[in-house]
Amino acid sequence: MKTVTVQASRTYEVHIERGLLSKCGGLIAQVRPRCTAAVVVDDAVDKLYGARVCASLENAGFSPKKMVVPHGEQSKTLNTLGAILNFLAENGLTKSDLVVALGGGVVGDIAGFAAAIYLREIPFVQLPTTLTAAIDSSVGGKTAVDLPAGKNLAGAFCQPSLVVCDTAALDSLPDRYFADGCAEGLKYGMIADPALFEAFRAGVHRRDMDDIVAQCVQIKADFVRQDERDQGARQLLNFGHTVGHAVERCSGYTTPHGYGVAIGMTVMCRAAYALGLSRVNCTPALLEALDACHLPSSCPYSASQLAQAALQDKKRRGDEIALIVPEEIGRCRREIVPVNQLERLIAAGLGEDH
Ligand code: GLY
Repeated sequence: MKTVTVQASRTYEVHIERGLLSKCGGLIAQVRPRCTAAVVVDDAVDKLYGARVCASLENAGFSPKKMVVPHGEQSKTLNTLGAILNFLAENGLTKSDLVVALGGGVVGDIAGFAAAIYLREIPFVQLPTTLTAAIDSSVGGKTAVDLPAGKNLAGAFCQPSLVVCDTAALDSLPDRYFADGCAEGLKYGMIADPALFEAFRAGVHRRDMDDIVAQCVQIKADFVRQDERDQGARQLLNFGHTVGHAVERCSGYTTPHGYGVAIGMTVMCRAAYALGLSRVNCTPALLEALDACHLPSSCPYSASQLAQAALQDKKRRGDEIALIVPEEIGRCRREIVPVNQLERLIAAGLGEDH
């Protein structure tokens, strides 16, 4: 079993190995006393792993209470959050009990947010079952719900007590979801680790992901240790995300997050080189890696559509927006850009005349 330690306002471990869902109860018992464990899971993941997780919790002496929510981003609402909070209250959970988030990023974010605000915070554990959740959203304590005006607009920082990542869960992911997660992995390579980038460029295999997941989680843990509240260094994790979120928004959220990030990284690499912000042209290598990961690079929206959508982004502060600019594969920097320059930059990234 690989273990990465995250040192933040709470120090916790991320355990990574195939088959860990069957052992999750014992692992959780190492960090939390026996208690009622509210397992929040979506209907699709419940069919695959709900019984296994509840049995493991029961065997370890916990009392599991399962709440099933509908799958998909459309569940990540204040309504679902309210239903989870009511479920916790109706089952009499106290501060010495536990929320267990079983699933992908949607369930992790919403169950984590419920744990953050129920009784002004009760402990929670993340059991990620998608690649995106394993390498990104289950680690680092960002929890949120969407509002009609945009994704993740209401949330809280709240670190889990433990993350148990069963990499065998990646076997059952539809191809499109696996590719979606690879975009975040490639991003870690782009911002921090050329060897990791090369691993994705060579093509990763879903049945052999333990090392890759551990490397990604270690990179994330390093950024979270430096900047838990996202005031500086952690923002490098947003590489490709300003344009990526804009693509998602322009598509009415039918483009998956990772696909948006893939396009966003491409736009930023092209723009950085075209505008002289980067001396190295990272685009050819990135395009090869995206291809190897079955991710898109071309964008169906114009610079003006994307800039409009990006201005709604929560990374905007007044008249400025922090963009992450590649310097070379494995190194990026933060660049504060006046919002009135954004469309020109995106146009350069799309290869439009500017
Ligand atoms: N997903 C980016 C972050 O956690 O900061």
